[in-house]
Amino acid sequence: MRDVTLTNIFQHRIAQKYLTRSGLAHAIAVSYHAFHLAKEQGEDIDIAAKAGFLHDIGHYTWYKNGKWDYNLYKQNDIHAIKGAERAHKLLIRLGENPIKAKNIALAILFHTDSFLPGGEVVRSPIQTIIKLADEKDEEPGGAHHYRNIDLDRAMRSLQRLDEMIDSSISDESAG
Ligand SMILES: [Fe+2]
Repeated sequence: MRDVTLTNIFQHRIAQKYLTRSGLAHAIAVSYHAFHLAKEQGEDIDIAAKAGFLHDIGHYTWYKNGKWDYNLYKQNDIHAIKGAERAHKLLIRLGENPIKAKNIALAILFHTDSFLPGGEVVRSPIQTIIKLADEKDEEPGGAHHYRNIDLDRAMRSLQRLDEMIDSSISDESAG
């Protein structure tokens, strides 16, 4: 039995506030991709799904005169750092296992290189999964951040993914 589910996370107002900002449909799509990749690779599906869901929770709104300012974003963005911290705080508050919370936070921290001055990070398998899952759902011009999904449908997708995670975990422990 997991301490925290995706639905628990989404019911928290902090998650709703920030995940709708960077695109809820994208967060859910990345969570599904991360789950499937982790399952194929024998990595922790629960950590993968949660890190996928929360990977963009650190975004700030870089708007100027009502329009997204890409230069301002490029110059100032630290969403991976902010997201790692914000997700960690939220997970601990919800009662997440601290080792899982740390691994989820690190996968969020390393899901992009955009904040690093140079060079590639050496990623663990789960960290690589989150980066790939994010790239799978990317659309040109950042359109993936603007795809809409209503809250009811979002909740149903998360419940379905929670059921998939729980049944994979119980299959593993049975077999
Ligand atoms: Fe993303």
